[in-house]
Amino acid sequence: MRIRPEVFDDRAAVYAITHAAFAGIDPMVEPEEVGLLQQLFECDQYDNRFSIVALDDTTVIGHVIATWGAVNGEPLLGLGPLAVAPEYQHRGVGSILMQEIHDRAEQESISGIVLLGAPGYYSRFGYEAAQPRGIHPSVPSWGEHFMVRVFDDSCLPSGDYRYAKPFGV
Ligand SMILES: CC(C)(COP(=O)(O)OP(=O)(O)OC[C@H]1O[C@@H](n2cnc3c(N)ncnc32)[C@H](O)[C@@H]1OP(=O)(O)O)[C@@H](O)C(=O)NCCC(=O)NCCS
Repeated sequence: MRIRPEVFDDRAAVYAITHAAFAGIDPMVEPEEVGLLQQLFECDQYDNRFSIVALDDTTVIGHVIATWGAVNGEPLLGLGPLAVAPEYQHRGVGSILMQEIHDRAEQESISGIVLLGAPGYYSRFGYEAAQPRGIHPSVPSWGEHFMVRVFDDSCLPSGDYRYAKPFGV
């Protein structure tokens, strides 16, 4: 398996695995994450350094992205979507993608990354509830599902978080 930043030619495959990973009961219905990704790739808050693909030979099998949101005007990365092709799940691909995006964030001296997700999954990567850290979601009911991975406590902004525009929150 190889890991590298996503390039334009990966995008069709990224949409396909995202569709498959998030598919509901009717696989013909496009999950909202696919449209979200299309908009994220086009928006000003997209940063190619934080859009990572995993490949099996030349086949894209997983993708993770973090885009620039803001806390009181201070930029802070927001992670998601994360998707692994169903036939490659439970083999550590998601974990490797998470590790890679964290390594890159640390190399770039990023203070932290927020996400909305299952604490049972993301706590293993060092995520904790964001609100006790002073970062509040735009939707209060997100509660403990709104999480932050802190890299540098000393420059972590605090206040209300707004995701990149395509998220609409
Ligand atoms: C979540 C996802 C990215 C994990 O990818 P993966 O390559 O299977 O992850 P890993 O192999 O590194 O880890 C798998 C472990 O994660 C855990 N896990 C997966 N989803 C979980 C969830 N929602 N809650 C708690 N734990 C979860 C399980 O413990 C699993 O262990 P198992 O293999 O013993 O069952 C993948 O399942 C996926 O694409 N799911 C659909 C899309 C999605 O929910 N994305 C995340 C939200 S944005």
